[in-house]
Amino acid sequence: MGEPNTTKISDLPSINIEGDCFLVPGPVKMSENTLNSMSHPVITARGTEYRDVMAELNGLLRIAFNLTNSSFERGEKSFHGDDNYSIIVVSGSGTAAMEMVIANRFTKEDSILVPTNGKFGERVAEIANTFSNVNNLKFGWGCSFNLEEIDKELATKKYSAIAFCHNETSTGITQDAEALSILAKKHEVAFILDGITSVGGLPVFPEKWGAEAIVVGAQKCTAGPSGVSAIAINNSFIDSIKKKHQNGEIIPTYYLNIISALKKAQDDQTPWTPAINLTMGWVSALRELNTEGLENRWKRCHDLSKGVQDLFLDLGLDLFAESSQRSTTVTAILYPEGINDEWRNRLANTYKTYVIGAQEHMKGKMFRVGSMGTTETSEMIEGCKRMIACFRDFGIELPDVDVESYF
Ligand SMILES: Cc1ncc(COP(=O)(O)O)c(C=O)c1O
Repeated sequence: MGEPNTTKISDLPSINIEGDCFLVPGPVKMSENTLNSMSHPVITARGTEYRDVMAELNGLLRIAFNLTNSSFERGEKSFHGDDNYSIIVVSGSGTAAMEMVIANRFTKEDSILVPTNGKFGERVAEIANTFSNVNNLKFGWGCSFNLEEIDKELATKKYSAIAFCHNETSTGITQDAEALSILAKKHEVAFILDGITSVGGLPVFPEKWGAEAIVVGAQKCTAGPSGVSAIAINNSFIDSIKKKHQNGEIIPTYYLNIISALKKAQDDQTPWTPAINLTMGWVSALRELNTEGLENRWKRCHDLSKGVQDLFLDLGLDLFAESSQRSTTVTAILYPEGINDEWRNRLANTYKTYVIGAQEHMKGKMFRVGSMGTTETSEMIEGCKRMIACFRDFGIELPDVDVESYF
């Protein structure tokens, strides 16, 4: 048996100290207020104190999802609005919420069309395939979906739903959700979105798109803690799952049962012990989003990503995602010839600047810069200057540019 580890958690090396640039596309940096809110002494899960927290969380989440406002008051059904969307808070990361959506709504009698252009879309296909039948239309990482092909496929009338990753964090591409929603309506299939890195960071219109379900992860655009997520579902989704559960068509889930969650939500509660301190932190982060204003946050993320994209293109680097659909919350940049993830290690160790690498077959070939959460322009400018300096350390010749002028 080894020696017990006596390092206090509070002594772990911090990467959030003054002067570091943390430009990772989630988990993102949390504010002092958010961190402090999580160190609240314990409260019970069922008392009025916690139900106040849940009511405010539901109300604030409706704002992040771009839904109609509800009351933030306990006992006022803050989870539901007059647009007929309901919010479910999930103790688990975004993947748990995505699984909850699929497992409660689809069976092996259903076929789901899942177009993909990156790793997280492929994960949607894997989750959907666990509970139903999937046709995963692969368009190539970083390439836009071919809408004509999707239209033709849906016209076969085989499908109950189209499900996809709205903002593909692995490749830096945002799908044309508006156009896809028109196809979903035309072919009368359910419209299901992984909005884990879009909700709160870029334009999302659940009601206009007729989305049956859309998922968000706290640790991304809303700058909350990891390990908690939420779903927005409409009445059509709820009617379908109720019917399927009553008819015994669904193999019921226990922990992730949406019907149990909806029952408890009536009373500002969750069926099981909630992630009390995490949700307190999320309330604090969402208050900051609300103070900034949803559209202002979308704009800040847009402006940051535009600065990064224009800058690196002018420096002569290539961006991975197709130019017409580049994400505004994450940018994937191809390494210049001769560079690999050693650059990223040096950037972290020497320049205290953190970006993230690529996944699967793109590993070592590109890096990704997040522009989500509460990242300030000054941090992005400083981070970009350090990235340029780090490339020069590796002998890459880059033109002289005025970094500030891009932001
Ligand atoms: C678009 C997208 N979908 C799904 C996931 C997985 O979410 P989680 O790690 O919160 O389960 C991520 C995580 O980076 C993501 O960016």
